Amino acid sequence: MYLRGPAEAAARLGPPRLAAALVAGAAAADPPAARATGGCYTRLFAFGDSLTDTGNFISYSAAPGPVARLPYGETFFHRPTGRWSDGRLIVDFIVERLIGTPYWPPYLAGKTAEDFRYGANFAVGSATALSQGFFEKKHLNVDQITPYSLAVQIGWFQKLLAMLASTDNEREEIMATSLFLVGEIGANDYIHPIFQNKTFGWIKPVVPLVITSIAASLEALIRLGARTLYVPGIFPLGCAPRVLFLFRGSAPGDYDLATGCLRWLDDLVVHHNTLLKAKLADLRRAHPGVSVTYVHYSGEVLDIVTSKGRHGFDERTVLDACCGGGLHNANFTVHCTEPHYYRIGLRSRPFVPAAFGPGTIGCFCPGSNG
Ligand SMILES: *[C@@H]1O[C@H](CO)[C@@H](O)[C@H](O)[C@H]1NC(C)=O
Ligand SMILES: *[C@@H]1O[C@H](CO)[C@@H](O)[C@H](O)[C@H]1NC(C)=O
Repeated sequence: MYLRGPAEAAARLGPPRLAAALVAGAAAADPPAARATGGCYTRLFAFGDSLTDTGNFISYSAAPGPVARLPYGETFFHRPTGRWSDGRLIVDFIVERLIGTPYWPPYLAGKTAEDFRYGANFAVGSATALSQGFFEKKHLNVDQITPYSLAVQIGWFQKLLAMLASTDNEREEIMATSLFLVGEIGANDYIHPIFQNKTFGWIKPVVPLVITSIAASLEALIRLGARTLYVPGIFPLGCAPRVLFLFRGSAPGDYDLATGCLRWLDDLVVHHNTLLKAKLADLRRAHPGVSVTYVHYSGEVLDIVTSKGRHGFDERTVLDACCGGGLHNANFTVHCTEPHYYRIGLRSRPFVPAAFGPGTIGCFCPGSNG
């Protein structure tokens, strides 16, 4: 079985939309950085896992597996790019909207300052918020867990910042005018243990550690001068096809009636997101000049799952993977190597996350196509 973090599971749910739904506090309506720069962000820096990885994993992995083959990439780029999707990721739409250029390299594929003139993407498929070493100490098999956890990605950012800015003024300018998308991150901290048969009792105490780790990374960015940070929560793991397959045969009462998803896992997600939101509120209080916005991925996915066809998904197959075999098309031993991926009836329409539209936090910057 080739399990690559939440990536496939999430991609199979369809792209969760980043919507205006989440915005905590007034921060997003009038972020300080947007004021400071006339409403434009000059760069976007993103951190996370396979929901956001646009090519880091594929550029270092000696055996990247299916993501290096069609149908990954087939509908938009017409070749595999290292995205765990047939098309663009949420972050691609944000880049298009905010920066107006597709030229935005994954960190590991760039070299010069010019390569990073619009920022960089540090996200890596299978990445965790906690370090790989943490899971090793807890006796997990870490073959499927990248060493490039969130803290490592923040370290990469620091190196890049040193390359982009030679003076304190330059550094402050870059930090104040950039948008930071930190996450989604953390789902893999639970998914890896889940797929290694760890129980809820094993996983639940990990949640506060994950939140502490995410907060430490946010603090590090804020200390460096970040003014505008978007922090997505995790999505409903109990709705992911592979998880539904793994726990097939659960008692009827284990499933949420409205969604068909596994309740105990969705409770874990709610727990994570609740602690995350509380931590973000602490950060806002501690750093009044900084805009920290929670992004409600989970609500977006649940909306797709429960909205009976409104988003272009067929309600009968909305919890199914787009190809493969067995329950929810998620039998681990039936591989989707044939080009029939991601065809669950999601209409191909570019989605521009509402939270990133003009008048909320972003605008079209010079050089944009808008
Ligand atoms: C998890 O449990 C299943 C069923 O008991 C078993 O087949 C599988 O090998 C176990 N996986 C791990 C990583 O222990
Ligand atoms: C998964 O697929 C394999 C190979 O086709 C098959 O032998 C197995 O019975 C399937 N398992 C389930 C639970 O459907």
